[in-house]
Amino acid sequence: KACIAYAPGTVANLVCGFDILGLCLDSPADKMEVRLTDTSEIVIKSADGYPLPEDPALNTAGAPLLEMLADLEKKVGFEILIHKRIKPGSGIGSSAASAAGAVVAANYLLGNPFDKVQLIQYAMAGEKVASGVKHADNVAPCIFGGITLIRSIAPLDIIPLAAPDLYVSVVHPQIEVKTADARAILRQQIPLKNAIKQWGNIAGLVTGILKNDLALISRSLEDHIIEPIRSTLIPGFQQIKNNCKQAGALGGGISGSGPSIFMLSSSRSIAEGVEKIMQQTYTELGIDYHSY
Ligand code: HSE
Repeated sequence: KACIAYAPGTVANLVCGFDILGLCLDSPADKMEVRLTDTSEIVIKSADGYPLPEDPALNTAGAPLLEMLADLEKKVGFEILIHKRIKPGSGIGSSAASAAGAVVAANYLLGNPFDKVQLIQYAMAGEKVASGVKHADNVAPCIFGGITLIRSIAPLDIIPLAAPDLYVSVVHPQIEVKTADARAILRQQIPLKNAIKQWGNIAGLVTGILKNDLALISRSLEDHIIEPIRSTLIPGFQQIKNNCKQAGALGGGISGSGPSIFMLSSSRSIAEGVEKIMQQTYTELGIDYHSY
């Protein structure tokens, strides 16, 4: 028995919602070919020569399946062929996509014994492998689609938000930022006045999403805690942000832990214009990029 799962990229944090908000993109997506075996083993292969750890305990798709197998009473195993289409270290949920794709495919092959929240619980083991910390703001939107709020990870409390049609432009300056490194530079103490601004914005953003209030979404897309620190790792960050807003984007910022930058727009044509501005800005700055 075998199946193929397409696991799309995701944008975590949504600017002000560090570790608690995320959205699912249409593309790019990892393609995961998963086969059920009776060996009690997990065998992982990279389809296109991309160097991925083959030890399941060290692989973002393997670690969740090891946890899943430990909870099963049957003797089964999985063979996974990963077509890695989302570049690791780009900031659009590459590790999460492989983790989510693996658990969704495995669950399907087993006859769907687990619900989505249980699958997210397993998939978070992949995030632990990738970044040293469990967080669900990539795996939850990858599995649920749309925009999700992760109110808590222990216990898991996931709230899918009914979102207006939003269009996402993403640009990836061609450097790699490891999530673990981008987390290590964050401050552990936050001045209360910044925390107040931040939770005002998170509440504003969630309300704007639920009420389809684009102006409220736009003015809530501000980050007083994480962005000032992480943006120093991203070349041309401020220019991209300013130019995209002038081109009509509602707003945006660092995608996940970066270095990709994302912008939200209210229509496809604005989002395409915003993508062009991203390309133009990086071309003028002489920075190599890839855009989506
Ligand atoms: N919330 C996580 C972080 C997402 O920003 O570190 C990583 O993709």
